[in-house]
Amino acid sequence: MCEKKSSPIVNNNEEIEKLPKTDHFWNNSQLYQWEGFWSTLIILKAAMVFKATFKSEPNDVLLASSMKTGTTWLKAICVSIMQAGNKEEEEEDLLVKDNPHFYVPTIEAMDYYSKPLTHDLYTMPSPRLFHTHLPYRVLPDSIKNSNNCKIIYITRNPKDTLISMWHFMNSRNRLEDLSPLEEVVEHFCKGVHQYGPFFEHVLEYWEESKKEPQKILFLKYEDLKIDTKKEVAKIALFLGKPFGNEEDLEIVLNKCSLERLKNLEVNKSGSILSNIHNSAYFRKGIVGDWKNYMKPEMEEQLDKITKLKLQGSGLEL
Ligand code: A3P
Repeated sequence: MCEKKSSPIVNNNEEIEKLPKTDHFWNNSQLYQWEGFWSTLIILKAAMVFKATFKSEPNDVLLASSMKTGTTWLKAICVSIMQAGNKEEEEEDLLVKDNPHFYVPTIEAMDYYSKPLTHDLYTMPSPRLFHTHLPYRVLPDSIKNSNNCKIIYITRNPKDTLISMWHFMNSRNRLEDLSPLEEVVEHFCKGVHQYGPFFEHVLEYWEESKKEPQKILFLKYEDLKIDTKKEVAKIALFLGKPFGNEEDLEIVLNKCSLERLKNLEVNKSGSILSNIHNSAYFRKGIVGDWKNYMKPEMEEQLDKITKLKLQGSGLEL
């Protein structure tokens, strides 16, 4: 393991002051628009540093996603695949010891981690496995131009993503501060939410994955739910760690099931990011849960924008 280096300092205050700003529906925070996407100030600053200074290394694996599209699941799967077949590590199941977000840190959210990571980006052994919610356009050039850095992107049906986001945000608010769903739908359709707009986020990775399928694996949460075995085998192959036998694959599937992760002590009581209980990452994991919450006019609004944004892309969500 290399020596720990401190994060580089980049002063972007002048640039930030000139950016468009808006109130966010969540937590009375403000969102800044940079390079066409919205984020809170802390995330924005970290994103700028990441873009300006990050140097990819051969074999880096970047997991990417918009919020609430199956990130935690994908992190757990990749951690388990990397561990699979390694008999020494097999005995200590990493996911029992810590939440998947601990092992695969989200780069631009490093400042929110409540527990010091034993391995940050600068000290992580190769192959480095890390994650971002940032859109493709602001990824560092050294990732985009690298021939041996891989990206796995996961997305999800926008209506389920939105409902999951709404619950996640509300789980951090007091009851009297709950955001009305109508308001959240409105903002989501306009793209004004953390890491929004959602559709541009998805489409950029989608287009890039079509151009470079050997470099970017594009996944859908729904496919993972429908045929978990097939999708996990696909991820393992993409990572260059194909399963030698069915048994190893089954072990990964079981380790990463929602029921199991949800009931692990570390996820029932722990908190990997400040102000977020680990339990908030594991809710129902149902495809079509939006039907339990959305009024017909909300459904219509979202279907309309989804059709408009995705038309001609060949992508269905
Ligand atoms: P719901 O809120 O619809 O239940 P993210 O990890 O990107 O924040 O996404 C969270 C969503 O993924 C939540 O969806 C959560 O329940 C679901 N999820 C988390 N772990 C999962 C797992 N192991 N299997 C399936 N779904 C999972």
